[in-house]
Amino acid sequence: MDFQLTEEQLAVQAAAREFAQTELWAGVIERDEHQKFPAEQIKKMGELGFLGMMVSPEYGGGGMDTVSYVLAMEEISKVDASCSVIMSVNNSLVCWGLEKYGTEEQKRKYLPGLTSGEIIGAFALSEPEAGSDATSQRTTAEDKGDYYLLNGTKNWITNGTTASVYLVVAQTNPELKHRGINVLIVEKGMEGFVQGPKENKLGIRGSDTCSLMFNDVKVPKENRIGEDGFGFKFAMQVLAGGRIGIAAQALGIASGSYELALKYSKERKAFGVPISQHQAIQFKLADMATTIDAARLLCLQAAADKDAHRDYAKSGAMAKLFASKTAMDSSVEAVQIHGGYGFVKEYHVERLMRDAKITQIYEGTSEIQKIVISREILK
Ligand code: CAA
Ligand code: FAD
Repeated sequence: MDFQLTEEQLAVQAAAREFAQTELWAGVIERDEHQKFPAEQIKKMGELGFLGMMVSPEYGGGGMDTVSYVLAMEEISKVDASCSVIMSVNNSLVCWGLEKYGTEEQKRKYLPGLTSGEIIGAFALSEPEAGSDATSQRTTAEDKGDYYLLNGTKNWITNGTTASVYLVVAQTNPELKHRGINVLIVEKGMEGFVQGPKENKLGIRGSDTCSLMFNDVKVPKENRIGEDGFGFKFAMQVLAGGRIGIAAQALGIASGSYELALKYSKERKAFGVPISQHQAIQFKLADMATTIDAARLLCLQAAADKDAHRDYAKSGAMAKLFASKTAMDSSVEAVQIHGGYGFVKEYHVERLMRDAKITQIYEGTSEIQKIVISREILK
């Protein structure tokens, strides 16, 4: 088994690290404090190719593999998990879904803008009463011949106010249950489409999350992705890959916390020695390093499965389940290693701890990952 990264993968990792350290680090505390969307940073990420990494160059993408994407997600998440969730939704939910299942016309219309960062995409599945229970869609897309009439509300949508293109999941044929669901491409500005106010969040505060309201929105038939009734399968397929991205985000939050804690432990003295010489601190670092390495291997395994066209629903869910717990545990320990300094904003670890929590909730909670994993095991 070869655990070596290729030269190209190492170059992507180095470029992402350089970008995160030089462009994201400086303003990250202020963006978090004021819930400021990282517009300039996202523009640069588009220019550098981080927003459409796996899309074919034919549509303006980088044509890279999922392993490279995981490496870049880790580096960016070490510094700013708000930027990485925007990146993750755009890459693995919107661009991947469009390229894999969109018509040639849809791809040519939307992908070049989405990959360059000129426009941002959003993915709208969750509703006020349909989160984990995603088949219970109440948003309706009534078939009116040459268009769908869209009505309903979506909740918690990442890039909700800043996106221009939304992949919206809605029920067309309730009697067919999940087999009656469709996914429609909705553009900002369509009549009857309104975005709610930004949520005031615990973490990933730079990213904008809001509700979406659809009131008799007429969506042309050609905006449907895939065959009639393919929408739920589309959402599940897209999320299987999306979970690898969020696993990598969690990995980055964990390794970012660990790197800060390791450095601090060598600088801070207590009882006449650097705290890294106290065994209690050494053991915390040892636990962090071990679980982070295990999380990284799970993320890379899932990415390698996807790249090799093997099934990746289980390995992606395992990576997300484990990496998100690692993010939570490592960031809490990083705060502990920093003592009182860990409790204030200047030292970054309190933000990483707040950002970690969402990785156990979105793109399927940890409980849902266990359902996905156990169903695969018991098949
Ligand atoms: N690929 C293709 N199809 C799949 C699939 C997969 N990986 N997983 C399930 N399906 C299909 C099933 O085959 C089934 O279709 P058929 O009946 O035609 O065979 C259909 O989906 C329904 O599957 P289930 O019967 O298993 O459905 P369920 O009601 O038991 O729920 C679930 C399954 C896994 C719990 C699903 O509802 C789920 O994933 N819930 C979590 C929702 C979620 O992850 N939301 C994330 C929103 S996006 C987001 O969060 C973005 C962000 O924050 C940044
Ligand atoms: P619920 O489904 O109500 O779950 C509540 C609790 O019950 C959880 O602990 C859950 O694990 C547990 N639970 C539910 N069912 C079961 C079960 N069968 N067995 C065991 N436990 C169960 N959604 C989008 O569509 N697009 C986005 O871009 C997006 N971005 C988001 C960004 C943020 C910041 C947040 C907070 C959410 C985002 N979401 C998005 C929504 C997210 O995916 C949902 O919040 C998540 O899937 C959980 O749904 P819920 O909040 O309705 O919780």
